[in-house]
Amino acid sequence: MCGIVGYTGEDDITTALGRGLEKLEYRGYDSAGVALAESGGLRVIRSVGRVAKLEEKLRGVVTDARCGIGHTRWATHGSPTEINCHPHLSFGRRFAVVHNGVIENCRKLRELCEDRGISPVSDTDSELIAHLLELFFDGDVISAVRRTAEMLEGSFAVAALHAGEPDVIYAFRRSSPLIIGVSPGRCGVASDGCAAEGDTLLLGDGQYARISPAGARVWENGKRVSPGRISGFAVGSHGTAGYAHYMMKEIAEQPGAAARTIESLSRRRLSGSLAFIGCGSSYNAALSVLPLAEHSARRGASAFTAGEFLLTEKLSGRGRTAVAISQSGETADTVAAAREAAARGWSLLAVANVPRSSLTRVCRRCALTQAGPEISVATTKGFTSQVAALAAMLARGALRDEVRRLPAAIEKALAAEADAETAAELFAPDKAAFFIGRRADVGAALEGALKLREITYIPAIGLAAGELKHGSIALIEEGTPVVLVHTDPALKDKTLLTAATVKARGGRVIAVTHDDEVAAAADLALRIPDVPHLISPAVSVVPMQLLAYHAALRLARDIDKPRNLAKSVTVE
Ligand code: G6P
Repeated sequence: MCGIVGYTGEDDITTALGRGLEKLEYRGYDSAGVALAESGGLRVIRSVGRVAKLEEKLRGVVTDARCGIGHTRWATHGSPTEINCHPHLSFGRRFAVVHNGVIENCRKLRELCEDRGISPVSDTDSELIAHLLELFFDGDVISAVRRTAEMLEGSFAVAALHAGEPDVIYAFRRSSPLIIGVSPGRCGVASDGCAAEGDTLLLGDGQYARISPAGARVWENGKRVSPGRISGFAVGSHGTAGYAHYMMKEIAEQPGAAARTIESLSRRRLSGSLAFIGCGSSYNAALSVLPLAEHSARRGASAFTAGEFLLTEKLSGRGRTAVAISQSGETADTVAAAREAAARGWSLLAVANVPRSSLTRVCRRCALTQAGPEISVATTKGFTSQVAALAAMLARGALRDEVRRLPAAIEKALAAEADAETAAELFAPDKAAFFIGRRADVGAALEGALKLREITYIPAIGLAAGELKHGSIALIEEGTPVVLVHTDPALKDKTLLTAATVKARGGRVIAVTHDDEVAAAADLALRIPDVPHLISPAVSVVPMQLLAYHAALRLARDIDKPRNLAKSVTVE
């Protein structure tokens, strides 16, 4: 949620900040802004909408600043207006701040400011941080930073400028990540490794830093400390590599991502009494592997959305393993659920794509997916890598060989693109659509529906196929598209019956299957290779990703940055 950048050095400041903000835009994009440390004072330039609009505004700007901070926002406290947009200035214009996270005691802090005669101008919790810095400033910024951080409850990553030091950025954090990039003669901060340049250092929880072109100094509890160096951080490739959208590039990268993931986890085993936890697509990945987990462990396994896990009765997790799944490793609900699971005595395993993320720091054991940076807000390679990772660790016996064949099967499934493009013509914004399947196909179907909803805004419903007749069938009318996922030969009769039931009511069946008979019974088939049902979601989801992509393209949607969404939701 929201992206933070800061830069101090010789590069043109607006270009350097714009470059960082573009890379971070996938984290939030309803407004953006920068603060520049000019010789005459702090200057703030902000705009509602995308980073490109801010960059337009910055193009004509003449400035002597060599240091600045920037922010791209996904609104939580206050609507996406220019007033609520970051950076925020303190009452005396001596400090400018950008902030990620949520300040839980913001009402109390607002009152504190008001008692001192300060009237906050925005609806945000973030503005209060700027006022606190100035209130506590008595000539030493570091002690003002320390006192401010002590006052804040909740999660925060903050970068701040002080008008008195035009080449310095102050940074402090708790729970939300912040990374310092150090190169000769220039330094920066970023909330995400993809925007950090040079050697990257992770600012630890509760630490605060003074960053100048000469380097970074870091403190904790008033003492100088050396921050952790990040090795193997997936800085990765940016740019769409000739594809029209990141989403399409990332769909195409899936065979490689799955292959690297399976290879790296080939010796890991996951067994015992398991509960999978995740949000959004990561929850769908959990559902996708439940039947495999039950099959391998020969006992029940469960899947929880992270938000619901937090609300369950506080049962002891002794002897049980909670598997927290998150592409970004920064989803607040998932991180909170992992903490809660640890407190209840569960043993913890993180399945995450971003090393050194909040989740991997909470969980002692990690299984990293190797998808590389994922930029499109709608996840594709992140999801298939999660399913591949879990399949690699859960599969036993002959299934293990089949897991190694998954990347090749995903590659073959990409060939369904032309048919997916044709199928996309059956979908329209005013027409509900269904995605259904049984057992492992349920997770894949739910993910197919989510992909379509996310990027086309078509009301798409994902269901266990057996549930269709219990109410939802009321929505089926002439032309209603129903995507029917079928990968389990043992369930063929049921699938054929479902197809007939849908067609009898005028619905159009789009089968995602390897099976000729099921394909023949459908109006249209998206063919996939024959892979064992229990590990099939990594493959069957692919044509549905392509379908969603082409449906969104037809509707001229903003595919990589759909409305209202953010790549990772770092607020609970
Ligand atoms: C957000 C994204 C979803 C994603 C979910 C979980 O809601 O829009 O696409 O599936 O977060 O993200 P995570 O990084 O934890 O997998």
